[in-house]
Amino acid sequence: MTELSDLARVPLVLEPTPLTRAERLSEAVGVELWLKRDDLTGIGLGGNKLRGLEFLLGDALAKASDCVVTGGGPQSNWAMLAALTARLAGLEPFVVHYGTPPTEVSGNQLLCGLLGVDRRFTGEADRASVDHGIDRLTKALARQGRRPYPIVRGGADPLGVTGYVRGGLELDDQVRVSRLTPSHVWLASGSCGTQAGLVAAAHLLGWTSEVVGVTVSRPRDDAERRVGELARATCELLAIGPVASTRWRVVGGYAGPAHGRPSPAGQAAAQLVLRTEGVLLDPVFAAKAFAALMDAARAEELNGPVVFLVSGGAPTVFAM
Ligand SMILES: Cc1ncc(COP(=O)(O)O)c(C=O)c1O
Repeated sequence: MTELSDLARVPLVLEPTPLTRAERLSEAVGVELWLKRDDLTGIGLGGNKLRGLEFLLGDALAKASDCVVTGGGPQSNWAMLAALTARLAGLEPFVVHYGTPPTEVSGNQLLCGLLGVDRRFTGEADRASVDHGIDRLTKALARQGRRPYPIVRGGADPLGVTGYVRGGLELDDQVRVSRLTPSHVWLASGSCGTQAGLVAAAHLLGWTSEVVGVTVSRPRDDAERRVGELARATCELLAIGPVASTRWRVVGGYAGPAHGRPSPAGQAAAQLVLRTEGVLLDPVFAAKAFAALMDAARAEELNGPVVFLVSGGAPTVFAM
């Protein structure tokens, strides 16, 4: 049996990140809202991905790796933060992107350039081409005598997901101190690892709150299957037990024109949050998730209080 505290971990997150009551936003939306500020995790403009990276890089170092190979879209927050934190841990970062090199360098591409990251483009529009690219590059580096540590897109494997089991424990302490019983914990789901970690935490802690993920990239059914599988595998890793009784679901219909492109509803939601609370939502994850929350509030589906995860992604605010 593995306890959370038995796992190797590189501390990266300035914890606990704040949980703040959003009074003006609550009034505008019509439900009591609290913001869990994981945009303030600290390093490299922050974001949810730092939590999983603590465990993934801990494992990479425990295995005496000398470099990290991962990937995502050209504006992937994940890929940039993985590269940045790999550098901090003394590991050389390699990143595989789908598509072709962008003509205009902005957002996460700009930051990867500043970090001097070795970036490869698959030349294919298909996101799955990144998975093959990571595999090929890992094998090529091993043939050259390197000790590469490959990480799946988004860090969405049981070890990466463990970051949000720990994040869930942190949130649990905070809601107790604030004497809150959230009806919902609401967030954006992409690779689904963040939601899976919170679902596993919810099971471990016996939460009554429903953990709602708004899928911004994959079809709803696919996302739901992935959250379930990843949560189960993570519970197995940590010997938490089955997740069947936990309340969670995935909401679809908010991806907008495409993954990685802003949506009009998301942009309106992000403007409201910025104008009422001074908090930036990234245009392709949290903004779309908040648009879904506003619709659910309008339809009187939320009792509240609702905890909304502000998941970071600040670099892409300047790249769309
Ligand atoms: C800013 C931001 N929010 C939310 C997510 C979604 O997290 P996950 O991929 O764990 O579902 C991501 C993923 O990259 C992200 O960058």
